Amino acid sequence: MIIKDAKFISSNTRADQCPQTELPEYAFIGRSNVGKSSLINMLTGRTKLAKTSSFPGKTQLINHFLINDKWYIVDLPGYGWAKVSKTSRESWRKMIHFYFQNRPNLACVFLLIDSRLPPQKVDVEFLEQLGIMGVPFVLVFTKTDKQSAAKTDANISLFMNTLKENWEELPHYLKSSSSSKEGRDEILQFIESVNQQ
Ligand code: GTP
Ligand code: MG
Repeated sequence: MIIKDAKFISSNTRADQCPQTELPEYAFIGRSNVGKSSLINMLTGRTKLAKTSSFPGKTQLINHFLINDKWYIVDLPGYGWAKVSKTSRESWRKMIHFYFQNRPNLACVFLLIDSRLPPQKVDVEFLEQLGIMGVPFVLVFTKTDKQSAAKTDANISLFMNTLKENWEELPHYLKSSSSSKEGRDEILQFIESVNQQ
């Protein structure tokens, strides 16, 4: 797929204030600093479309970007950063759960996982929440440029083995690097195939 046009539309805290649309949207979620906003920039080929930072907690709102006037990318704030107060964590949880349950046009969620790490409890628990809410999702293992392909694959296997305890069917997954652009074609092709369904 060729991205001819990518524009920022709005930032919101409430799903019901997000663009009223029947166009499909694809949301990016995962731990703070896992690389959601960077991946959005890599996919769209726009270096500054979504705001990124080396410090966790950069994205705080539900950000909509309209792509080719046909579908939306949604950049979401991350979870799992230790230095967040209990109150902020609870307001994040409410905002995100309300978002997932009130966007009938939500076509798929990309749940980003850091490919450098062994399975993290927060990620496994968040995945369970997505399952409970019945949200369609795929996994994306990020930052593959940071280590060998063998190490990435070993961490993916560990993650999948952890899921086997609770999931009958293992989720579809992709790999990505915002630096090397690994995964760009696969993710865009996946979006295109869902758009055509
Ligand atoms: P929050 O908005 O805080 O939840 O974080 P985020 O998930 O949007 O992460 P962001 O895209 O802001 O990236 C966090 C840091 O990781 C930045 O310093 C990025 O440059 C770096 N980063 C993101 N993706 C990659 C990648 O694929 N490879 C490498 N080497 N660095 C990456
Ligand atoms: Mg971000």
